[in-house]
Amino acid sequence: MNSNGKKVVFSGVQPTGKITLGNYLGAIKNWQPLQEEYDCLYCVVDLHSITVAQVPAELRKNTMELAALYIACGISPDKSTLFVQSHVPQHAELQWVLDTITYVGELNRMTQYKDKARKHKDNINMGLMNYPVLMASDILLYMTDLVPVGKDQKQHLELARTIAQRFNNRYSDTFVVPEGLVNKHGAKIMSLQDPSAKMSKSDENENAVIYLTDDSATVARKLKRAVTDSETEVRYDVKNKPAVSNLLTIYSLCSGQSIAAAEKQFVGMGYGALKEATAQAVNQVLQPIQAEQQRILADKGYLENVLKEGAQRAESIAYKTLSKVYRKVGFVPRIR
Ligand code: TYM
Repeated sequence: MNSNGKKVVFSGVQPTGKITLGNYLGAIKNWQPLQEEYDCLYCVVDLHSITVAQVPAELRKNTMELAALYIACGISPDKSTLFVQSHVPQHAELQWVLDTITYVGELNRMTQYKDKARKHKDNINMGLMNYPVLMASDILLYMTDLVPVGKDQKQHLELARTIAQRFNNRYSDTFVVPEGLVNKHGAKIMSLQDPSAKMSKSDENENAVIYLTDDSATVARKLKRAVTDSETEVRYDVKNKPAVSNLLTIYSLCSGQSIAAAEKQFVGMGYGALKEATAQAVNQVLQPIQAEQQRILADKGYLENVLKEGAQRAESIAYKTLSKVYRKVGFVPRIR
């Protein structure tokens, strides 16, 4: 909770590669309505992104594009604190303290670490393993109550809770123990080519992923090629019809219709009709976002100012939390 008695929300996306429809439907889309009720901080988590090798110039470009995307998706800099993680040094500083109360065994068990270590065998760096501790630091620095994320982040969030509780037990009550905010539908958008795998930025098959920058013809082509099953009935049944259920989820979230209403709409129609309607609904969501993102990017001064003010606001909170933590662990305060 913040000093005005409002609950605090924190979330972030890594500025790596192209942002997917999964990132949007599972996370970013849910951020906007929270601004009305909560004190929200939305961060471009660039420190996290270098756990996998990045091209520096591209990372810089992706960071600004992602910040512009947040605004294009309805995050208002007047209502929320929008900032870049590396602009607030306390994230890395708190991480060090939290590292000392996190066990190697806990990090070794993280599924995302195991997956990434398998994929990047030549670069299993300490940062990759430490990733969830930095994420805990992001969250705990702001006394966050709620963390809106996709399903794949549940395990990391659970660890953040464990770390908060452990610190509180060892050094007395300090951190809020955060809760995850995970969608009932859309928390795990699946690949269009393999419904057993999540839609992922790093998928080598471009047809498996809809990027937020895709034009309408590309979206239509990818959906047309999406795998389905050998039946013809449009029915939501994740266990037996995972690919069709994934399309229905995307359609429902982009059109605003419930899954049940969508099922009714497609009675007696084949998968072709579902794919076409889904493409239309996705494009209706993406086109205004793309136009708005371009408009914001064209005004570099505005965006830089938003990030400057966001970092100032974030740092003033982060500084207080870190000072408290340093005092609790026994560091001598610096005399200024
Ligand atoms: P990232 O960039 O990998 O993912 C950003 C968000 O997108 C969600 N997501 C999905 N949701 C539904 N279906 C999918 N296929 C899909 N793919 C990704 C993720 O769950 C996430 O919410 N570690 C975080 C970034 C982070 C963070 C934080 C988040 C760093 N610090 C503090 C919250 C709070 C991540 O996964 O980024």
